[in-house]
Amino acid sequence: MKKVDFNNAREYCERIIQAVADVFVGDNVILEKLLAAALANGHVLFEDYPGLGKTLLAKIFTRVVGCKYGRIQFTPDLLPADIIGGKVWRPIDSSFELVKGPVFTNVLLADEINRTPPKTQAALLEAMQERRVTIEGETHELEMPFFVLATQNPIEQEGTYPLPEAQLDRFLLKLSLGYPRTDDEEITIMERRIRWLKDDPSEDVSSVISAEEFLSLQALAEEGVYIDRSILDYIGKIVRATREHNLVEIGSSPRGALSLMKVSRCLALIRGRDYVVPDDVKTIAPDVLSHRIILRVEEIMEGTRPQQVIEEVIPNIPAPLEYARRE
Ligand SMILES: Nc1ncnc2c1ncn2[C@@H]1O[C@H](COP(=O)(O)OP(=O)(O)OP(=O)(O)O)[C@@H](O)[C@H]1O
Ligand SMILES: [Mg+2]
Repeated sequence: MKKVDFNNAREYCERIIQAVADVFVGDNVILEKLLAAALANGHVLFEDYPGLGKTLLAKIFTRVVGCKYGRIQFTPDLLPADIIGGKVWRPIDSSFELVKGPVFTNVLLADEINRTPPKTQAALLEAMQERRVTIEGETHELEMPFFVLATQNPIEQEGTYPLPEAQLDRFLLKLSLGYPRTDDEEITIMERRIRWLKDDPSEDVSSVISAEEFLSLQALAEEGVYIDRSILDYIGKIVRATREHNLVEIGSSPRGALSLMKVSRCLALIRGRDYVVPDDVKTIAPDVLSHRIILRVEEIMEGTRPQQVIEEVIPNIPAPLEYARRE
């Protein structure tokens, strides 16, 4: 395998997306966005109905990028120790043994995160933020890459603990897989199942790169993709416009701007450029910003969605015309 650098980054990214698309049926733009978040080592929240392929996508993606996969089903009785682990008494040698929890992995699928009480949510969100956990006073670093793919069901309101806005801000992107878009997609899902002879084909999928190479790709996005001041200005204007919009109570924080900057650079890398163009920002802005905006109460009652605000804001901000690397 060749060393990951700018000359082959695009090819690697294309192969990653293709390998996932060979299993998961859906929009390749979603896969591009998921890969962008992963390259930024960022956490993704999927808001989707059951049975749309979230578990399948998480497993396949993890495998394709050569990473370790873990899953936690969040329930009302889950405890922080069920996530991070704890010390267990061993009578044989009269000592406490450290048992690491499922958070010690590379990609963690956190299913139905809003079905667990705040204290348990906080344990996960802390690990997401700090990328380390403290078990009985001892700090343990998590292995890199580490990112969480969390799911929440948009219909189940009863017995749920919606994530507070401050916690939502921890997610780099909020995505939605949605239903198959065409009859053809619907049929393809069934046909693939017939071919696989099993529900879960993930074991038969081979990785495109190793976890170590994936780390190099991450570093390339962080260190090698140029972002012009005109693009930073563009991002700043978009974020500021969310704060000044008349339907909005609280707009995006500077963390939102930083997130938009990070993911745009990753998208540029995926698309084979070593500099960001305004279209990278436009493509990803609704997914980065919508969960960071709180609408006015009247608007929430009216059923307005934060995405609408962002879709309205973007065309009104002139995109910069010069943004290529300046020597
Ligand atoms: N877009 C898709 N492409 C390929 N297979 C799919 C797709 N959507 C659903 N499936 C198939 O449907 C079944 C259910 O998918 P999966 O378990 O991944 O859904 P889920 O979103 O995780 O559901 P839940 O919310 O109940 O956990 C799997 O066998 C999966 O292979
Ligand atoms: Mg699932």
